[in-house]
Amino acid sequence: MLRKLLIGTALASGLAFAAHAEDVKEVQMLHWWTSGGEAAALNVLKQDLAKEGYAWKDVPVAGGGGDPAMVALKAMVAAGNPPTASQMLGYTALDYAAAGKMGDITAIAVKEGWDKVVPAALQKFTVYEGKWVAVPVNVHSVNWLWINKAVMDKIGGTEPKTFDDLIALLDKAKAAGVIPLALGGQNWQEATMFDSVVLSTGGPEFYKKAFNDLDDASLKSDTMKKSFDNLAKLVTYVDPNFSGRDWNLATAMVIKGDALVQVMGDWAKGEFHAANKTPGTDFLCYRFPGTDGSVVYNSDVFGMFDVSDDRKAAQAALATATLSKSFQSAFNVVKGSVPARTDVPDTDFDACGKKGIADLKAANEKGTLFGSLAQGYGAPPAIANAYKDVVTKFVHGQIKTSDEAVTELVKAIDDAR
Ligand code: GAL
Repeated sequence: MLRKLLIGTALASGLAFAAHAEDVKEVQMLHWWTSGGEAAALNVLKQDLAKEGYAWKDVPVAGGGGDPAMVALKAMVAAGNPPTASQMLGYTALDYAAAGKMGDITAIAVKEGWDKVVPAALQKFTVYEGKWVAVPVNVHSVNWLWINKAVMDKIGGTEPKTFDDLIALLDKAKAAGVIPLALGGQNWQEATMFDSVVLSTGGPEFYKKAFNDLDDASLKSDTMKKSFDNLAKLVTYVDPNFSGRDWNLATAMVIKGDALVQVMGDWAKGEFHAANKTPGTDFLCYRFPGTDGSVVYNSDVFGMFDVSDDRKAAQAALATATLSKSFQSAFNVVKGSVPARTDVPDTDFDACGKKGIADLKAANEKGTLFGSLAQGYGAPPAIANAYKDVVTKFVHGQIKTSDEAVTELVKAIDDAR
């Protein structure tokens, strides 16, 4: 991976040097979209840019959730060699902007009227001190269950409406000899699942206070302790080989019917799509029990760096392509996410995508749209990392009790503030 990265970087800087005064007709993009579904979605963008005459200089850094990618990006930026753009989450673009590393694409935003169609919740992460520094690509949400339909039929299961229903359903799968819960034991996957558990256990107000406002009393509360109890219950349903497993391999277990369910963001649907599976027939998407009506979201953005003048035209082409209505539909259908603009029809989306679009709209109107702490939308990266660390230690037994987990969580978040 590092070799690929270095070669990509060397090629890009060589080309930039050679082209000099003329526009560089390529987009160099750092991202972590390396699974089947993710790569298929990215292809939509590559093709759109090819039509505009721009070549694609890929800088993939594998690792779901993007932590390894963000380490690689930091090194490129520190070396004075930023990509044209990078996939980013949450506060990252704002942090780079504060450090003076981002470009300014406000002129394109104004010309294309982005502020009227991009939801305010996303603009908060793409506009820094009145300037557009990033382009939102999509809106994902994490509070979903992905279920194999044939296994569900075999065990006579129905949609779980409460956490206890979910436990009963997992018990049925276990009794039938199927792995009940497909989980990849990596910190970001465990924390992404815990986002849903906390929302389900404490309700929308509690999620907001604890994971968006970082309210001390909520973080230390009995409800947080109960959330860890519920997480511990869920973890008893995973198979012994879950440690370190990639998220898309966990999705594949559900696709194949080796496992009943995965709790994961809707990028998992991109894997079902890539495997030609249809919702309602092959798989089922339900909101995590007790969370219907709320959306815990994250949004992939392309952070636009302050590149040399000869690379600005390519960056502008990327920005325009990314927020075009046709791309927003075509890309998000494949990716499993929903559009980052409010005026894209849901016509081409499958049933889960249509529900995702409707849920986002309703949550936005009702005030039940919350940033995912695990995905960097609840708080800045240092706090998100502290959270992931505590959750993974709890799941893997280094933190033994829910009481201890709450104490460690409060301490880790305080230290990171
Ligand atoms: C998320 C990202 C998604 C998906 C996922 C797994 O952080 O927002 O687009 O890529 O990681 O890699």
